[in-house]
Amino acid sequence: MKIIQVKDYDALSERACSFLVERINELENPVLGLATGSTPEGLYKQIIKKYNQGEVSFQEVKTFNLDEYVGIEKTDPNSYYYFMKDKLFDHINISLDNVRIPNGVAPDLQQECEEYEEAIQAAGGIDIQVLGIGANGHIGFNEPGTPFTCRTQVANLETSTIEANSRFFHSIEEVPTQAISMGIETIMESKEILLLISGENKAEALATLLTCDVTEEIPASVLKKHPNVTIIADEAAYSVMNQL
Ligand code: GLP
Repeated sequence: MKIIQVKDYDALSERACSFLVERINELENPVLGLATGSTPEGLYKQIIKKYNQGEVSFQEVKTFNLDEYVGIEKTDPNSYYYFMKDKLFDHINISLDNVRIPNGVAPDLQQECEEYEEAIQAAGGIDIQVLGIGANGHIGFNEPGTPFTCRTQVANLETSTIEANSRFFHSIEEVPTQAISMGIETIMESKEILLLISGENKAEALATLLTCDVTEEIPASVLKKHPNVTIIADEAAYSVMNQL
């Protein structure tokens, strides 16, 4: 894993943006894997800026998101579909026909997972997958203990994840307990991975990731087996690592 250390969140967002824009401009039909959460918000703001400056076009870009809550409609401001439209898609020239986010209210969730996998394959696989990390080391919604061989599936959220994500909801009771998540094996098939880690609340997770063996108890540790991973982390995220 290649690691780029930057000063702060703004620098991380700018660096991640240059990284992604470079790839989009290099590839003929880029297929991006995108993430939600607080971490990539700055990246999306930077991308919109670059788009407005005419430095990148999304005409030929296809995207697949990592996950979506089960039971939350697209129109709900807490859905990841809404998040992606609000933070990125509504502000760039991407066709919504080229955008795919798991449908958390599909009548048959298992079938939705299978179709999601098929759609990724049909697009030729993901060229570059953007990832954040949970404080517990999760990637997507693949919680500790998830087999590395799992593909897109309905995942049960850990209590700590429900608590962490409750900041976006009116109350903790409103946070879904399940999500459709791209599987670990699916993520690992991406040709390249960009992992963004920012802030003191992720410092423990970063230190653990950098020092641990590859284990299903720390889902992100699987990335050590991928040939093309870049981590961009800021100084706050390095605070625990620097004390070791
Ligand atoms: C969420 C998402 C992940 C995300 C992580 C960190 O639960 N499912 O894809 O990377 O938790 O989120 P944040 O960037 O808000 O800390």
